Amino acid sequence: VSIRVGVNGAKGKMGRASVGAIKSSEDLQLVFAADVGDSLEKLIADEKADVVVDFTKASDGPENASLIIKAGARPVIGTSGFQKSAIPELDKLCREKKLGGLIVPNFSIGAIKMMQFSAEAAKYFDSAEVVEYHHDGKEESPSGTALRTAELISEAFASKTPKAKASERKEIEIIPGGRGAQLNGVRVHSVRLPGYLADQEVIFGGAGETLSISSRPRDRDCFMGGVCLACRRVTELEGMVYGLENLL
Ligand SMILES: NC(=O)c1ccc[n+]([C@@H]2O[C@H](COP(=O)([O-])OP(=O)(O)OC[C@H]3O[C@@H](n4cnc5c(N)ncnc54)[C@H](O)[C@@H]3O)[C@@H](O)[C@H]2O)c1
Repeated sequence: VSIRVGVNGAKGKMGRASVGAIKSSEDLQLVFAADVGDSLEKLIADEKADVVVDFTKASDGPENASLIIKAGARPVIGTSGFQKSAIPELDKLCREKKLGGLIVPNFSIGAIKMMQFSAEAAKYFDSAEVVEYHHDGKEESPSGTALRTAELISEAFASKTPKAKASERKEIEIIPGGRGAQLNGVRVHSVRLPGYLADQEVIFGGAGETLSISSRPRDRDCFMGGVCLACRRVTELEGMVYGLENLL
C-alpha cells in the first residue's frame, strides 16, 4: 500500500522538486499539491493524506505543523527557521493524536554527514566557526543547518573532559556584527549571494593547524532522497523528531 502524501508550498522551488520526487517514487502517492490560498485542513481531510511535506516560509512553519497534526496527518517540515522552543508543544499534539512528525533542517545526506563529522571533530579541537553560504532569496539567517551544527559542536565541547577552553581574548568589533553571530560560544557567519544553493563550511582551529569540513549541494536533487525517506519513516513514529540523522 502506498503512503498518501500532500505537499504544501508546492509552487516553490523545494515544493516543485518534492512533487516530482514523490510522483516518481513507487511507494508514495501524491494526493495534493497546495500553496498559498488553499485550505490545508480541507485537502488533508478530502484526500485522506497520511503525510504532508511543508516547504513554505520560515514564519509559517510551526503554525503549518500544528495545523497538519490537528487535521490528522503527519508533518514532514522542511521549512527552515524553526525555533526548538516550538517542539514540545508539537510533540504533545502528535502524541495526543498518536501521530509521528519530523522537523528536518536539512534533507541532504552530505549536509547531515558534515554535521556528524563536525560533532566528531569537536572532540579534538577547542574552537570552531561555521560559515554558511546561501542564495540571496533566503530570508532568515543563520540557516537551520548552521544553527544545528553550532549546537552539536557546542554540546561536544561541553561534554568532553577537560571541557573545551573558550577563548578569553578581548575582541573589538569595528562594525557591530563583525565577528558574526554566536550560539553557545560557536561563531556563525552567513553569506547571501546569487549563485549559491546551500553550502556550509565548518572550520576547526588548533595549534598550528585548521581542519575544514564542508558540504556543497549542486542542485535540489540532493534533498529528495531524504524527503522520500522522511515520508516513509514518519509513518512509523509517534511524537515529534528533530533531524533526519535520527532515522538514518
Ligand atoms: N530542509 C531542507 O533540507 C531545506 C532545503 C532547502 C530549502 N529549505 C527551506 O524550505 C523553504 C522553502 O524554500 P524554497 O526555496 O522552496 O522557497 P520558495 O520561495 O521557492 O517557495 C515557497 C513556496 O511556499 C509558498 N508559501 C509560503 N507561505 C505559505 C503558506 N503559509 N502556505 C502555503 N504555501 C505557502 C509560496 O507561495 C511558495 O510557492 C524555506 O524555508 C527554505 O529555507 C529547506
